[in-house]
Amino acid sequence: MEEGTIAVVRGKQIVIIKGVALRACAAAALRAVVDLGAGDGKWIYRLARVHPEWLCVAVDANAAGMREASRRAGRKPSRGGAANAWFIRASAEALPPALGGLADEIHIHLPWGSLPRGLLRPEPALLARIARLGRPGAVLSIRVNRSVLDDPLIQWRLLRGRPDGTRSTVSRGAPPSRPCVTLNPPSRPDGTRIDGTRREAIPPLPRRV
Ligand SMILES: C[S@@+](CC[C@H](N)C(=O)[O-])C[C@H]1O[C@@H](n2cnc3c(N)ncnc32)[C@H](O)[C@@H]1O
Repeated sequence: MEEGTIAVVRGKQIVIIKGVALRACAAAALRAVVDLGAGDGKWIYRLARVHPEWLCVAVDANAAGMREASRRAGRKPSRGGAANAWFIRASAEALPPALGGLADEIHIHLPWGSLPRGLLRPEPALLARIARLGRPGAVLSIRVNRSVLDDPLIQWRLLRGRPDGTRSTVSRGAPPSRPCVTLNPPSRPDGTRIDGTRREAIPPLPRRV
């Protein structure tokens, strides 16, 4: 893929476009939200429907999962469309530079594969790449399945805290179907803290919009 381009999922198609188009939308938006490891992209789709003045960006390595949500978003607004929702095929390990410095909020919900391990152990290079998605003062919210605690190193980090003194909270009160661990903000590898991060519930969204 050419430098400065992004792979945009539109139903069954993947369209390679220049990243400046996305950046122009971000500049015009009241708020920009990125969901990394977005899965089926429905969370971003719903968020975009509820907040048409926001830019809502789903990013996932698997384009096929986002087909349906991107197809719906491409319809007229009166028929469920959301022109402010973008669906981008990209992996956390190779995020397109065009996404850099774009987000007011970065969400990672229930990641799997290498992602939770990289986030929680943590792997500074991965965190640095993710942190680069944010504008100064961006919020990073990570929610992981409690099964990640099976990794002894992650368990140790969560229970003992990290070298920078940040700690994590294991939430046993979460709905049983979605147990999660909510993290305090990780440090950036350059030693700076990501400020202004709040612990918040995933915004309640209507099931059908
Ligand atoms: C369990 S699903 C969670 C989906 C969604 N966030 C949710 O809460 O329903 C995990 C998603 O992370 C994506 N994923 C895993 N590793 C990834 C990576 N390194 N970069 C981007 N996406 C990744 C997978 O393709 C999958 O869609």
